[in-house]
Amino acid sequence: MPSVQEKDVIRTIRRVKDPDSDKDLISLGRIKELKIRDGEVTFKVLVDPARPLSESVLKELKVIIGEMEGVEEVAISLQEHTSKAQAPAKQPAPQQPIPGVRHIIAVASGKGGVGKSTVAVNLALAIAAEGHRTGLLDADIYGPSIPTMMGLRGAQPTAVDKRIQPIARYGIALMSLGFLVQEDQPMVWRGPMVHSAVTQFLREVDWGQLDYLVVDLPPGTGDAHL
Ligand SMILES: Nc1ncnc2c1ncn2[C@@H]1O[C@H](COP(=O)(O)OP(=O)(O)O)[C@@H](O)[C@H]1O
Ligand SMILES: [Mg+2]
Repeated sequence: MPSVQEKDVIRTIRRVKDPDSDKDLISLGRIKELKIRDGEVTFKVLVDPARPLSESVLKELKVIIGEMEGVEEVAISLQEHTSKAQAPAKQPAPQQPIPGVRHIIAVASGKGGVGKSTVAVNLALAIAAEGHRTGLLDADIYGPSIPTMMGLRGAQPTAVDKRIQPIARYGIALMSLGFLVQEDQPMVWRGPMVHSAVTQFLREVDWGQLDYLVVDLPPGTGDAHL
């Protein structure tokens, strides 16, 4: 029986592409400790816990190596990525959830009527008075009170290129869910709806460049919080 050559195994492995990057696993450096003993081929595949390699890729590897002449057994083990180089690359996204906004200050509490909106408005005005570019987002879908507090009840924001433009008032950029919903219209919001409305809102508003964005969150104790 012909003995299995390492270079042939490598060539075979190269035929399988990582669906995420369309590169083969050898080029990606994800195959480690390739060993060939008689007809037995063993190696490790490095996997990123955040983006697990699909079952079909592993199955395909096993099948095509198994079909090679002289190969009797294929043993593939998985190893989590320990590469430090890759880990930090993923972090910037969560660090800046809204492009252009450097700091987000969330004002939240479990109850309504405790002074959240009062705190949020005064905080935003105080930060703006210090000379920082400041935005204020009223995400209290149950009782958006900031338009009233800022003297902007009934104001209608415009959209430019499908992005909602905040309204400038007292030196801050203001946006409220209260601008978008009818006053006096009863609404029932469930947790997931609150979350998606607030998240969508955060992203669809054209905040521009801000040093601080103060967010007045809806009252709630659990799933609605960001
Ligand atoms: N520090 C405070 N002392 C007394 N009353 C306050 C104080 N802060 C807020 N209020 C009043 O309490 C009421 C609720 O405040 P608000 O900021 O709308 O609370 P929330 O946003 O938590 O519902 C308002 O009438 C407001 O004027
Ligand atoms: Mg409030």
